[in-house]
Amino acid sequence: VCPKHSLSDPNSIWVVVNKKRPLSPKSWVPKDLVKVNALYVNTPYLRSVAAKAAEKMFAAYKKDTGKQMQVLSSYRSYASQQAVYTGNDTLTARPGYSEHQTGLALDIDAVPRTCSLQACFADTSQGKWLAKHAYAYGFILRYPSGKTSVTGYQFEPWHYRYVGVELATDMRAKNIKTLEEYFGLPAAPKY
Ligand code: DAL
Ligand code: ZN
Repeated sequence: VCPKHSLSDPNSIWVVVNKKRPLSPKSWVPKDLVKVNALYVNTPYLRSVAAKAAEKMFAAYKKDTGKQMQVLSSYRSYASQQAVYTGNDTLTARPGYSEHQTGLALDIDAVPRTCSLQACFADTSQGKWLAKHAYAYGFILRYPSGKTSVTGYQFEPWHYRYVGVELATDMRAKNIKTLEEYFGLPAAPKY
């Protein structure tokens, strides 16, 4: 695939960030962060294009089900990633290596909160709906189950990454689960 958007430029909606591909520079800060107009646990900021898509997706979930979802965590700076890094490289990214620092990724929680940051989020109404519909809003499940050897992370059914509707739809159509496999990039299980 000859990518239409850069896979390395941190401004690109297709930027691939993993243990082998840090943000460049590692201290990178997006220029167009906006507050996401949604329910939240931690005040949510995303890049404008991702914020709009998330707002649309949350509204569609509410319309479909009468229930709500909320933002647990979204943009994280280098310093805030340093603060959340647990030392366990299969659970959290080191600062400069997190998709959260792109302003294109968010962790989603149920309302009321249940199975937060746990595999059982996949079995909640919110988790199931997202797995089925997120692509239509341009989001992909970035750390699918069974792909730890590629992504280096355990199944994170709550973590969604904005890549745009075109790419999210094509990944689904081709049944390709990770950005690394889609673009033919090396697996990144370790630093
Ligand atoms: N939990 C994801 C991998 C992060 O820390 O970016
Ligand atoms: Zn996350």
